[in-house]
Amino acid sequence: MNAEVPASQATDIPLDPTVVDSLWAPDHKVLQVNHGSFGRVPTETSAFLHALIEVEDSNPQGWFRTVRDEIADARVALAEWIGVDEHRMGLVQNASAGMTIALNTLGPEARGRKIIFTDHIYGAVQYAIERTAARTGAVPVRLSVPLDADDDQVVAAIAAELDGAAMLVVDQITSATAKLLPVGRLARLSRDAGVPIAIDGAHAPGLIEAPVAGIEEADFWTGNFHKWPCTPRGTAALVVSEDRLDTVPLVASWYEHEPFARRFDQQGTASCANWVAAPHAVHLIEQRLGWAAVRSHMSALADAAQQLVCSALDVAVPEVGRTALSMRLVPLPAGVATDPLAAGVLRDRIADEHGIETAVTCFAGQGYVRLSAHAYNTLDDYQRLSDALVAISPTAS
Ligand SMILES: Cc1ncc(COP(=O)(O)O)c(C=O)c1O
Repeated sequence: MNAEVPASQATDIPLDPTVVDSLWAPDHKVLQVNHGSFGRVPTETSAFLHALIEVEDSNPQGWFRTVRDEIADARVALAEWIGVDEHRMGLVQNASAGMTIALNTLGPEARGRKIIFTDHIYGAVQYAIERTAARTGAVPVRLSVPLDADDDQVVAAIAAELDGAAMLVVDQITSATAKLLPVGRLARLSRDAGVPIAIDGAHAPGLIEAPVAGIEEADFWTGNFHKWPCTPRGTAALVVSEDRLDTVPLVASWYEHEPFARRFDQQGTASCANWVAAPHAVHLIEQRLGWAAVRSHMSALADAAQQLVCSALDVAVPEVGRTALSMRLVPLPAGVATDPLAAGVLRDRIADEHGIETAVTCFAGQGYVRLSAHAYNTLDDYQRLSDALVAISPTAS
């Protein structure tokens, strides 16, 4: 499979509910429909992680003397799982760290040149760009890309600005708008223009079988394992091209002069038990359910959930070009959740008053509920969410 995945992979293969419940103990109090932020860690992986932390806590010195090989094994297993050469993949805490590291490679040569990104960018990554601009004298350029833009329009908007830029920063799957961007085409375009590209694939692992296939030429790609793959939090990858193997982690460690991947394996005495436990989650889900079946279920369920909630709220399904495989937008009434602060207030109300963890996003002054569907969700979950939204009946404040 290529990074330029089709909009929907849904074939609606039902997952065995008994197996699903054995992986994720049913939670009758809180409903999770925001795996775009965090996936639920399988119960057995959580137990495995806690056993590791007990070992670490009881003999920290012994843990840190011997854990390096286990971290390396985990890294190799995760790299294999996403289909990447392990020598090009370093472990990082999260996609925010991965993107910051990519931006840190810019230096004085960036002065006066553009760092290009779109208005679909994740807010914290924009802050990282702004930091880089303040440090180097580069100029942040935020391009407007309409929600319904197709791949050709996205490529054209970026191509028009690319000449002489210091870096192109682009999402593989956008956060606020659940949109797939044509990163393969953009990676080729930026290579041809001699402009480094950093791809934010925070959502890609788990949703796309081989998230870096077709973008091997990209200078930097980062992706989270703690979202869709359901590993313990703080587990992500930074993948670099062959000519970027000199990239350094955020924190200088004793392993500074090791080859790229090993340089990232330990950052001082950061725990890393989560990294050691991470392959447990992805392999467990593969063995019990199969990731292909999980992806298919998530995609079909996200479609059905969006139809259900949009129809309950009497709103039209928005056009987003190629939509993310298991995330969908439901528009809120005009004037509701039009900025990140207001979106956060509504998200908290839905959680506090109805016990539902979901995402509320905004783009270009329009608020959305961003639906996510994972293996452990059923259509009933979205009926409960739409009942909550109808009960809250949010209006412009
Ligand atoms: C597109 C995108 N980039 C970056 C991030 C940051 O991920 P993290 O908080 O794990 O660093 C997110 C988180 O949701 C995201 O959606």
